[in-house]
Amino acid sequence: MTSATTAYAFAGTEHTSRQLAAIQAYLDELTMRRILELDLPPGGLCWEIGAGSGSIATWLAHDVVPYGQVTATDLDISRLTPAGNLQVYRADITADPPPAGGPWDLIHARLVTQASSTARAHPG
Ligand SMILES: C[S@@+](CC[C@H](N)C(=O)[O-])C[C@H]1O[C@@H](n2cnc3c(N)ncnc32)[C@H](O)[C@@H]1O
Repeated sequence: MTSATTAYAFAGTEHTSRQLAAIQAYLDELTMRRILELDLPPGGLCWEIGAGSGSIATWLAHDVVPYGQVTATDLDISRLTPAGNLQVYRADITADPPPAGGPWDLIHARLVTQASSTARAHPG
């Protein structure tokens, strides 16, 4: 889906998986609480940008919109597994068009743009 050249600052390092696990452990509970406040319909359509290891995308697909669809995109989709109503595409949020499947009930991105070289090159 992409011809991405944008670099993710922490990609491909030995620390990437541990970094993602730490982010999930620290933030998932808060993120889930905030998303549940939105009261999404069980057939809702969600797009997660920069889904990382997919903890939120997987939870959305299983628990929040079990009759809907979740589309997870990331520069690196090696840690994302499509299953059931969760689909996965490689895409650069700074260069590629949105995936098919909208209009979305939820578009979620957490800690994505500040980690890309494009964002660092053009702060603000
Ligand atoms: C700090 S991690 C956060 C992962 C996940 N959002 C979370 O909070 O658990 C940043 C993620 O954004 C992805 N990413 C960075 N730049 C991106 C871009 N330009 N387009 C798509 N994904 C990007 C990285 O590959 C990585 O998975």
